[in-house]
Amino acid sequence: MTNHGHPPADDAQPAHDDDENGTSPTHAEGDADAYVGPDGVAHPRRIRSFVRRAGRSSEAQKRAFDELGPKFVLPYIPETLDWPTAFGRAGAPRILEIGFGMGDGTAHIAKLRPADDFLGVEVHEPGVGALLKLIGTTPLSNVRIVQHDAVEVVEHMLPEGSLDGVHVFFPDPWHKKRHHKRRLLQPPFVALLASRLKPGGYLHCATDWQEYAEQMLEVLGGEASLENTAAGYAPRPDYRPVTKFENRGLRLGHGVWDLVFRKRG
Ligand SMILES: C[S@@+](CC[C@H](N)C(=O)[O-])C[C@H]1O[C@@H](n2cnc3c(N)ncnc32)[C@H](O)[C@@H]1O
Repeated sequence: MTNHGHPPADDAQPAHDDDENGTSPTHAEGDADAYVGPDGVAHPRRIRSFVRRAGRSSEAQKRAFDELGPKFVLPYIPETLDWPTAFGRAGAPRILEIGFGMGDGTAHIAKLRPADDFLGVEVHEPGVGALLKLIGTTPLSNVRIVQHDAVEVVEHMLPEGSLDGVHVFFPDPWHKKRHHKRRLLQPPFVALLASRLKPGGYLHCATDWQEYAEQMLEVLGGEASLENTAAGYAPRPDYRPVTKFENRGLRLGHGVWDLVFRKRG
């Protein structure tokens, strides 16, 4: 998961990446849960950007869940999040992070930017436990977590024009062409994210998979309500730490691409 998109990570990609027909139970579960709307109407099945991976939480992660979960993990409820109540303060800039993995980057940035509130959304339970552990040890008071599909969180919990920033770091690249449909950063979701940003708010994405970087540049560049802050790819903003996998990749000559777009005023 945290070794991002480089070929060795292919094994770490959701386990069924080789499942040609998508018939394994894991695939079926992650692929498209049937969805019935509040009106009782069944909607077309949604292709998801993740699969529920096996992987156990460690004892320490479970302990962090028990001790810190009640305060820092917010339930997924399909209604507008009461941000001041959730964070215990009002007026702080609101940053959403999608797919924080094990949360090292999230904790680093939240420590660096104590004046900002960070809502981290991740589906992988051991990752949630790992970030809770970091929240306890750092310690951090400006992070909250929702363990749920970020697409639904953005759709139902975050109103239009409510976010100051969005971070999407190393989203699963879904290397194989037949899986590209699972990539998170596609025009409809980027339009949805952009609608949630305040004017002047930013969307910061990073990837180490060149072909996904090119797709991101095209999709973000094609969203009329966003403008690029750079001529193409952006220099890495100082707040985004270089992960150990990224460092290793950079030593091997692999690239990493950051994209920083702003919502037009
Ligand atoms: C390749 S990992 C990157 C993790 C982390 N951002 C990093 O830089 O190390 C992508 C993460 O996104 C999560 N993810 C993918 N789709 C998601 C979704 N729709 N909602 C929430 N999390 C998602 C996965 O569970 C995984 O942990």
